[in-house]
Amino acid sequence: MAIPPLRDDWNLRPGVTYLNHGSFGPAPKPVLAARQEWFERLEAEPMDFYVRQMEDHLAAARERLAAFVGTRGDHLTFVDNATFGMNIVAAGFPLAAGDEVLATNHEYGAVQRIWRKRCEKVGARFVVQRLPERLGDVDELVEMLFAAVTPRTRLLGVSHITSPPAVILPVHATCRAARQRGVAVCIDGPHAPAAVSIGLDRLDCDFYVASCHKWLSAPFGSGFLYVHPRARRHIEPVIVSWGASLSGRPATWHDEYLWMGTRDPSPFLAVPAAIDFLERLDCGSTRGLDAFRNWSQELVRLARDRITRLTGVEPLVPDDPAWFGTMLSFPLPDFVLEASEGIFHPLQSALWERFQIETPIVNWHGRRFVRVSCHLYNDADDIERLTSALEELLREMSAEKTRGTR
Ligand SMILES: Cc1ncc(COP(=O)(O)O)c(C=O)c1O
Repeated sequence: MAIPPLRDDWNLRPGVTYLNHGSFGPAPKPVLAARQEWFERLEAEPMDFYVRQMEDHLAAARERLAAFVGTRGDHLTFVDNATFGMNIVAAGFPLAAGDEVLATNHEYGAVQRIWRKRCEKVGARFVVQRLPERLGDVDELVEMLFAAVTPRTRLLGVSHITSPPAVILPVHATCRAARQRGVAVCIDGPHAPAAVSIGLDRLDCDFYVASCHKWLSAPFGSGFLYVHPRARRHIEPVIVSWGASLSGRPATWHDEYLWMGTRDPSPFLAVPAAIDFLERLDCGSTRGLDAFRNWSQELVRLARDRITRLTGVEPLVPDDPAWFGTMLSFPLPDFVLEASEGIFHPLQSALWERFQIETPIVNWHGRRFVRVSCHLYNDADDIERLTSALEELLREMSAEKTRGTR
């Protein structure tokens, strides 16, 4: 495997094996420099920047991001993160008593909570449908999901790449099926930008929310909300401000989301620098996004090989790039019990405290998984370090379990 020796492009703390880009993806130095430059321009003359310049700069950054995710700037608005975008959709989407919002059992906990609360408020039902245990057949998955659609289903919420098992869901087939049944779709996509090609116009969903501070490695506090023109009338801002352009140009739907009081726009303005960073990668035989995706996926496949050999437990998806990309979760043996207290599983705490390895141990549907995320600063040594730490810790846990059952 060709080595992108890119750890020096990040400010990661020496001695830490960081395998959790999927939760919090740090930005590389050129992106941080771009953000700092925007921030200094703002600080040098705030009145001029906010009132005369910011709108045009934001429009240019939005246009660049839109092209990157396969749509037009017109259809996007910057938001702080995917959670923010999801709240906008949930707050405005028309729901009445007896209506249903359908989600998969892979959805992120906070996203489920957003929709559950909104449904409770109006007397609608939030329905969670289980997907097949093992994924690998698109038709089977779509059939199982749509078996839960009823005449009252108004909206389907589905992740592009799921958080706990970290698998890619077939969102194109899902959107096609939803359109045939007249059900609106909101895609939760914070793990998708840069990790996979999105093609928003082709996807034809109603809403798509994402964070750019995950795989795209833009600064923390940068995300977007896509709204299909047919769905614009369904949303409203959660923060109400002037709702108008300061430049006097004709009004557009995103004016409501442009100015939310005074805030730092530099994370949004540095998004093009993050796109440049990935698109200009030169790793010899592969370049740009392909170089990033190939590198990350090869490392995840190495992790798959090593961890599956160690645990003897197969991952939930086949060894096929249609189902996983830059991260994947690996099921742990049953003797790794559910944590009894605290937010971190004892295995996760031990990985950090004894080995300085950052990787989440995920509790999902009664099973424990280790989720491994790989970016350009990771290499095969990181995977070997994780595997040998897991080997030692699992051996200890297994021995403890045996002693406890004697
Ligand atoms: C699938 C999924 N949805 C939503 C979110 C929320 O993203 P953010 O915290 O950037 O809003 C996450 C965060 O990890 C996630 O994994």
